[in-house]
Amino acid sequence: MNRLDQISLGKIVVIRERLLKAQRDGTKIYRFESGDPSFDIHPNVKLAMESALKQNKTHYIPNNGIPELREALAKKLQTTNKLNIEAKHISVTNGAMHALYVLYQCIVGEGDEVIVPDPMWTEAVENARLAGAKTIGVELKPEHNYVYRAEDIEAKITSKTKVIFLNSPQNPTGAIIPKKELQKIADLAVKKNLWIVSDEAYEHVLFDGGEHTSIGSLIPNYDKIVSVYSFSKSYAMSGLRLGYFACRDELFNDRAGKLLRCTVNGINSVTQWGAIAALATPDEWYKEMNKEYLKRRDLFLEALSGNEILTPYIPHGAFYLWCKVKDGIDVPKLSEAMAQAGIGNAPGDCFGEAPSTVQSIRLAFSCSTEMILEGAAPLREFLKNYK
Ligand SMILES: Cc1ncc(COP(=O)(O)O)c(C=O)c1O
Repeated sequence: MNRLDQISLGKIVVIRERLLKAQRDGTKIYRFESGDPSFDIHPNVKLAMESALKQNKTHYIPNNGIPELREALAKKLQTTNKLNIEAKHISVTNGAMHALYVLYQCIVGEGDEVIVPDPMWTEAVENARLAGAKTIGVELKPEHNYVYRAEDIEAKITSKTKVIFLNSPQNPTGAIIPKKELQKIADLAVKKNLWIVSDEAYEHVLFDGGEHTSIGSLIPNYDKIVSVYSFSKSYAMSGLRLGYFACRDELFNDRAGKLLRCTVNGINSVTQWGAIAALATPDEWYKEMNKEYLKRRDLFLEALSGNEILTPYIPHGAFYLWCKVKDGIDVPKLSEAMAQAGIGNAPGDCFGEAPSTVQSIRLAFSCSTEMILEGAAPLREFLKNYK
């Protein structure tokens, strides 16, 4: 049996194909199904990449990242994230997606259990399964504002549990785990001697008072924690593919180094020089993007106001609107009809199997503000007429 045969290619892909077919048939489409920031990269990132090319910085590089970038990342993790991390603890990866692939291969094996939120962005879960682990979902409930709670996690711990995975701000709900709850999760992991994998890909996508805390800052001397980051969302560098993870554990880093060497053997050198420039951009850069995300969120909320089918959770981070679908309405059917009408979406069963997950739908507001402005009226009409 090949583990890959147990992994699905993703229902969002099916939705995307349906949307593109609707477009070919002449329907105007609105790309609310995927989480790719609409913004261009910062001009300084382009300049740094051009300059790296001109200087022929195109040769083999260390497999865990160029030293200049790892030093800059260490500084960022120490000052912004308050982590007890040095450059030697950091590996640069081909996006956070690749980081998740590598780190799970380093910490789990056949029969281990990984506790994950349900709903959760699929690939975070699939990468654990790809490494042989079984994922155990903890239902995030609307009545708890979709917060991943230590007491619910504890109820799922067995003798086989190896990892607690968390993601805050979260995809798909947009929920942020409050600092007090993060502390409880951290204490639980320490008490039970479990690994923590903290996916912080949306650490900078915050608005309307949203705040981010890195769980690693709450247990600075605990080594069994891997913190994962991405340049895709913070700096809109999704196509340049740059992520990284940080962990203090020596055996972990030894294994990660081997896997990086035997697979990618270093990420595109030019992108890494661009990443150094991105880290040096003033915070205003992502704060401007966040202002626009807030505008988009509110446009969506306005479009949904008064409708009787979707009840959105109001997020303060990430760029998704997680909507509870009225009981009795078949979500896959609703999702398909929306896609046929040109309205992109991701049905709840893309993200897990808990009852409230499958009775929900995700709308993304990472596309342009113009697209949301244009799509608001068709969305409102669709919901008004849906039977
Ligand atoms: C929670 C989460 N982690 C990681 C990623 C992957 O990011 P990257 O583009 O760096 O692979 C995504 C992408 O949507 C995500 O939602």
